[in-house]
Amino acid sequence: MSIPSRPRVVVTGAGSGLGRAFVLELAKRGARVVAADIAVAGVEETARMARERGAEVVVEKCDVAKAEDVEALAASAERALGGVDLLVNNAGVAVAGEVGDVDLEHWRWIVSINLMGVVHGCHYFAPLMKRRKAGHVLNVASAAGLVAAPGMAPYNATKFAVVGLSEALYQELRPHGVGVTVLCPTFFPTNILEAGRGSGDPRFIKVAAKLMKASKLDANDVARAALEAADGGHLYSIPMGDGRVMWALKRLAPEQWYRRVGPALLSLARKRSG
Ligand SMILES: NC(=O)c1ccc[n+]([C@@H]2O[C@H](COP(=O)([O-])OP(=O)(O)OC[C@H]3O[C@@H](n4cnc5c(N)ncnc54)[C@H](O)[C@@H]3O)[C@@H](O)[C@H]2O)c1
Repeated sequence: MSIPSRPRVVVTGAGSGLGRAFVLELAKRGARVVAADIAVAGVEETARMARERGAEVVVEKCDVAKAEDVEALAASAERALGGVDLLVNNAGVAVAGEVGDVDLEHWRWIVSINLMGVVHGCHYFAPLMKRRKAGHVLNVASAAGLVAAPGMAPYNATKFAVVGLSEALYQELRPHGVGVTVLCPTFFPTNILEAGRGSGDPRFIKVAAKLMKASKLDANDVARAALEAADGGHLYSIPMGDGRVMWALKRLAPEQWYRRVGPALLSLARKRSG
């Protein structure tokens, strides 16, 4: 179930941050890539960078929230690559704010991309991999899909859903020789806050920006860790130590976590970010 050398790959949200890092990391493996994004300028730049590193890249405009766009992406990847060894469902956005304050329109927006975007990818690509009895689906969730925090319920809800979807899909595809990995990083620097929406408490955005800046891992490290997990056939990829510790403690004593430890950590982070 590991990724072959010179893999044929599709990456969504490939125009920025982690998606670009995946494409560039895969370029080192001699990959042939279909790089997709809703924003063409960013993904064209990713393609230029990857071609400089020797990769073959086809650019596709694709809004993952639209089923017909993802269906067309699967068809064009089949035509261009003759099969897909790795699908990276990476495209994602952020919405901050407390329940009741966040516009329902923002809820619908984040669900349509972070959840339905991944559903669309799995729906159109998994049957093709099943038929070939080969391939790997890498879903980008977040540590926010394992442990929830106040002020980011829309993001938490979609990322918990991606973890659940991936856990079910792992069991469905394993008998067919197809792997599934769900990636759950904590904060690292990308453009996700700038592109985000919501009625978030500015203190929350400040904390998030500070945590991103303080990350010891960058997008390239996160992409590399996820690909290593996929190579090893692992279901979970949790690259950061703080993510692994938070998840372990939350599973050990979930109510105590949400009553005491989570709020204490949040107030510490708020104090530190001034
Ligand atoms: N940056 C972090 O701290 C962090 C932590 C955990 C998980 N993640 C996840 O990593 C993934 C990538 O985000 P990032 O941090 O690189 O952010 P980013 O904003 O830098 O990149 C996201 C990319 O997705 C694209 N995109 C947005 N909506 C789209 C749509 N409807 N269809 C297709 N493409 C779309 C954007 O154009 C952009 O190129 C997301 O799923 C995010 O939730 C990020």
